[in-house]
Amino acid sequence: MSTTTTTVGLVGTPLDRVDGRLKVMGAATYPIDVTLPGLVYAVLVPSTITSGRIRHIAVDAAERAPGVLAVITHVNTPPLVRGPATEIGPQPLPPFQSDAVLHYGQHVAMVVAETREEANAAAALIDVTYQPDTPVLSFDDPRASRVSHPWTPDYKRGDVPSAVAADVRVTQTYTTADNTNNPIGLFATVAVWDGDALTVHDTTQYPHAVRDSLAAAFGLDPAGVRVLVPFVGGAFGAGLRVWPHVVLAALAARVTKRPVQLVLTRAQMFTSVGHRPNTIQQLSIGASRDGQLTAIEHVSTSSIGMSDELINLITHGTPSAYACPNVSTRATQIRQSIPTPGWMRAPGEAEGSFALESAMDELAHAVELDPIDLRVKNHAHVHPATGLSWSSNALLDCYRQGAERFGWSARTPKPRSMRKGGQLVGFGMARGALGAYQPPCKAIATIRRDGTAFVRSGATDIGPGPYTVMTMLAADCLGVPVERVRFGLGDSAMPRAPQEGGSGLTGALGHAVHATCVSLVRAFVDLVSDDEGSPLKGCRLEDITVRNGGIQITDDPARFETYTDILTRHGRDDLTIEGESAPPGETSSASMIVQAGRFIPYTAPSTGTRAHAGGYAAHFVEVHVDPDFGTVRVARVVSAIDGGRILNPKTARSQIIGGIAMGIGMALLEETVSDRTGRLVTTSLAEYVIAVNADVRDVDVLFVGEPDSMTPLGTKGVGELAITGMAAAIANAVYHATGTRIRSLPISIEKVLGHESASPRTSSSLDAIPATTASARHGAV
Ligand code: MOS
Repeated sequence: MSTTTTTVGLVGTPLDRVDGRLKVMGAATYPIDVTLPGLVYAVLVPSTITSGRIRHIAVDAAERAPGVLAVITHVNTPPLVRGPATEIGPQPLPPFQSDAVLHYGQHVAMVVAETREEANAAAALIDVTYQPDTPVLSFDDPRASRVSHPWTPDYKRGDVPSAVAADVRVTQTYTTADNTNNPIGLFATVAVWDGDALTVHDTTQYPHAVRDSLAAAFGLDPAGVRVLVPFVGGAFGAGLRVWPHVVLAALAARVTKRPVQLVLTRAQMFTSVGHRPNTIQQLSIGASRDGQLTAIEHVSTSSIGMSDELINLITHGTPSAYACPNVSTRATQIRQSIPTPGWMRAPGEAEGSFALESAMDELAHAVELDPIDLRVKNHAHVHPATGLSWSSNALLDCYRQGAERFGWSARTPKPRSMRKGGQLVGFGMARGALGAYQPPCKAIATIRRDGTAFVRSGATDIGPGPYTVMTMLAADCLGVPVERVRFGLGDSAMPRAPQEGGSGLTGALGHAVHATCVSLVRAFVDLVSDDEGSPLKGCRLEDITVRNGGIQITDDPARFETYTDILTRHGRDDLTIEGESAPPGETSSASMIVQAGRFIPYTAPSTGTRAHAGGYAAHFVEVHVDPDFGTVRVARVVSAIDGGRILNPKTARSQIIGGIAMGIGMALLEETVSDRTGRLVTTSLAEYVIAVNADVRDVDVLFVGEPDSMTPLGTKGVGELAITGMAAAIANAVYHATGTRIRSLPISIEKVLGHESASPRTSSSLDAIPATTASARHGAV
């Protein structure tokens, strides 16, 4: 066995992806790649109406078509029970339970056939007779019902109405468009039954939720359902819920007694796996003439499906964003006849930060302060509601270092004052932030007699890199060379892990892996405690260093023994320990900081002394706007990121670049469009435009900050952080370039050229002007 490899100190280094080779070789198996003997194919028939009822479905011709094994509709589907809610909210309703059509593209029938071609051909023979009614497609529709949910309670501190009537105020309406996740890999489910045991390969971010939902749907013991997804592909939030097609694939396999593959079409991806619902947001900011904030009021209205519940944290970040005594927020959802929304990277916080950070930019221009100076002046040095100090907060460093790297000092404050050739040049910036989130997580770790380690947990890797990062972390905690460590995920038979979502997985899984590995080392220490044959006899965790596949007494390098030696002498093939993460702010017996192979006890800050901070970002953007064509190019981005302790700067940087790319898409390009009957018109990548390489040019990421004090690893989520504030930074740069304030995303060419309203129709169109003048001209708002 090799003993020369450095086994400690991998965490924090830019290790290449451990699964990179498999991926580029095409050897990584995604759900769509799963082939099984006797595999048959299910295809879905989407509703062509937006709202109404199914009067009749003629299936005879389809049933008689070549290769067809089953045609399944609401008429012959048994009752299916809705899956249990997870920590991120309720599941969608199960499919085919009634004749009601609640949105365009709703699955109304499924054909299962020997080949996909036969299934598609038969699906075309299905004739659905609808009884349409008038869909609800506007927030102003008197039939549109408002939903309030416990997870978005109204927030209030201080006296907002009087404080908003300050010396200077900005009162504006901002809108964001419907956006749709477009992972290149189409979502796929392969289901196979063996008696009452169900195995499902599924494009999901949350195997245990799929297991629990399918168990509920079919009345099974969850232990009899296994969900596998070693590789997911992109998902961005689309795989966080257990969508109807997943249940339908399992139903198709049950009915036909064959393994079934169901792959959504690209068009179905727009209607079947959620989307970022559109928002209208009213932002009022009051400030003194020198730019000290006195009040923020943030009211959002967003759409939700006719029969669904969805957490959407649009105003969630606003109360803690700035040191401001008077703040109120309200988030309302309005039921519309739209495909069931879901989540898309930084759901809510991406949209909310667009409004807040655009309004802050408007305020900066109104009080003639540099946008950075305005933010620094109003920085929340402590949590503005509780007065508690932050567990970590390097936002001021983000502003400072980001500005320096970007060359912000070259900016001339006046809009439309910078040019390069024929292009208008604009510099814009914004603050980004994402709340802290660490759901519970378990893991299991094994060291085998051959000196290898196998650590696993039922998590997923949609690209951020848990395979890599957890391998490094386990190698460091166990002192086993990284090439002898394997990390496993994507299997509901492994210990329960949460979704990879909410930027919470590195913290959740990282702490589970960390705690489990510490417990495993402790188990080895216990094993040799009274072992006369061991040079380690009587050692304690605090005395040892793990390295080179074994344990050494720190002060006596001669007293070293490999895990293999210990297991061999005790006649064991392996030692296996299960463990789980401690919640942030709690100390457990496995709470340790592992440093250079040593175990240093970690004690959480005493209860109630710290506000648990999430990640922070400062984005700096240079845009070039063509005054004739209205095209906006994001020429440069510098994002300074406080992500706490960065476990792998290479994979973390990729996360930030990805967030920036999606932020560019959100700001300039992406818009899911439906016509006035509620049918989607953007159902392919030709019509729904996302940022491609040519749109993502010079991107520079710098990490600043310290490990967060609330947890032993000190990590903060970065997966979604970069998209927060990104659209505002671009909009602010466009204003600086052109003098045109665009408050409605996406910032299309038409809006830049003034051919389409740059402000939402519902806007008060009250520009940021001193309140004395504003009140006289417009009255109180
Ligand atoms: Mo993300 S929307 O939490 O996958």
